[in-house]
Amino acid sequence: MKTNRQDAKSAKKTNSHSMETRAFLAFLASWRFVFLRTLPLVCFLLPACQQEMAMQPSGRPDEGSSFFADEREARPVVGGTVARGHLRTDLHLFTGKRKHEPEPWQIAMSFVTSGAGGNIFGGLAVTADAQGNDVEEFPFPVTHEVLELGRQRYMIYCVVCHDSLGTGRGKIVERGYTPPPSYHIDRLRTVAVGHFFDVITNGYGSMPDYKQQIPPHDRWAITAYIRALQLSQHFPAEQAKQEQAGGRPQ
Ligand code: HEC
Repeated sequence: MKTNRQDAKSAKKTNSHSMETRAFLAFLASWRFVFLRTLPLVCFLLPACQQEMAMQPSGRPDEGSSFFADEREARPVVGGTVARGHLRTDLHLFTGKRKHEPEPWQIAMSFVTSGAGGNIFGGLAVTADAQGNDVEEFPFPVTHEVLELGRQRYMIYCVVCHDSLGTGRGKIVERGYTPPPSYHIDRLRTVAVGHFFDVITNGYGSMPDYKQQIPPHDRWAITAYIRALQLSQHFPAEQAKQEQAGGRPQ
């Protein structure tokens, strides 16, 4: 006959057994079980999902091709194609020029001056480049950051010839390069800002162009810095006095 004590013991045992079973069932239902059991299966089956599309013949851009007449794998882009984000319709920002509507006589003159042997496009280019077409304003606000960027770019690209003050006595000029004019002469102090942008973009006389090295935004920043350099040497005395009287920080 069982004692009360033995009864309690076996009850406890069955109890702990059923707890284990429940824990096991819970594990089976848990995500860990599902995950651990199905992951290898999925990995095993995945390669079987290879699609036929992946197997089709494809060419690489720089390879030759026997399919096309010109034997090039890369197809030439359709004329006039513009890559996304590269459409440069903003004349002001990208050329520093105003839209120029030439008078009929100007067009006629340009064809005459481009000579009998000159081509028609040469004549049009002359007209488009007509003097006095440079913009007077910057295409975006000139902030402290823009000036700082302009100073940095100037010190990289221009200082070697134009020197840090813009008087045109840079190191390369010391070694015999054509001396550029000082930025502080009247003509350049009063010239439209578009002229500076144009000079940086297309070069000027013996100065090389910088359109490949310097993006348009930075060319404008340099232009702003040239204006700051000019102002630094010709700050109106009256305005300086007024600002000093106004107690601006030194
Ligand atoms: C390799 C030397 C050299 C470098 C670098 C150089 N320039 Fe010049 N720059 C010249 C010379 C030389 C001239 C004069 C060209 C001439 O009149 O034939 C000139 C002329 C100019 C002029 C005056 C154009 C005019 O109307 O007379 C400006 C403005 C100017 N440069 C801006 C710049 C800026 C901005 C940079 C930097 C992005 C720069 N230059 C870099 C050599 C240089």
